[in-house]
Parts: sequence; C-alpha cells; structure tokens
Amino acid sequence: MANEKKNPVQMPIDVLKHMVPNLPGDYPDIGEVLLDTDTIDWRPKSLEGLYEKMLWRDPDSGASMALIKFEKGVGIPSPHAHASNQFMFVLSGKYTYTASNLTLVAGSFYWNPKGQVHGPTIAEEETIFFELYDGPHYPKQPDWYSDEQDSH
Ligand SMILES: [Fe+2]
Repeated sequence: MANEKKNPVQMPIDVLKHMVPNLPGDYPDIGEVLLDTDTIDWRPKSLEGLYEKMLWRDPDSGASMALIKFEKGVGIPSPHAHASNQFMFVLSGKYTYTASNLTLVAGSFYWNPKGQVHGPTIAEEETIFFELYDGPHYPKQPDWYSDEQDSH
C-alpha cells in the first residue's frame, strides 16, 4: 500500500501526442502538462502565411486551443460561420474583420458566436493570437484550405 498514489487525470503520452502533434521532446505520463510554447514549431497551414501551434485538442468534441499567426497581408478570404463558439485573445499585431469593420489589437478579446457569419479578414500587421473553439471549427472544410487537417 505504500506509495500507492494515483493520479486521477493521468494522460498517456500517446494520447497527448495525438492532441499536440508538434509536441517536442519526451514527456512522461503525467497528469499535469506544461508546454513551453517557444519550443513548439509553427505548423504552416494550407492558406499561405497562416500558421498554428496546437496546444490542446479534444478529438471527441473537436474543441481546441491554439496559438495562431497570420503574416502581414494574409487573411481569411471569404465570409463564413463556425460550428462552435470561437474565442480569440490577441497577443500582438493588428487584425481586421473587413465586413464588420472590427479591428483587433494586442489585448483584444473577441468572441464569435456559433453560426455567426463573419469575415473576410486581413492581418494589417503580423498578428499572433490565442484561439479557443468550444467544439468543431467548421460545418465543412472551407475552400481556402486544401489540407483537411487545417479545418479542425
Ligand atoms: Fe472565422
């Protein structure tokens, strides 16, 4: 019975690596996960100039948290809606929703309700934000992504 301490939220490393594909190094099977985001490579998405660092994803619900980077001049080209609520907290840059004339800057918190049509967008400067979806990102793969992985 000695040292029989159990962690109720232990996460196997193979599950963690499935959720965070770019996870660097070897992580032990632990309950708490601390990521040094500076050591995770930006993954280019199939829209040129758009990158992500996936931090957490629930494969069952489609919910996720990621860091997103748009190069200056890059944006989402078309109006669209998401299949869940979308939340963004801007860390740096300047990012505009051109149809609604909303400009996000460092410190902006943006909430886009499920099903709300929005966009197009343009990064007026290189922009980095933390993004959270509480479910699947899109009802179907948007036409600006050629890689299915980029739409969730
Ligand atoms: Fe969107």
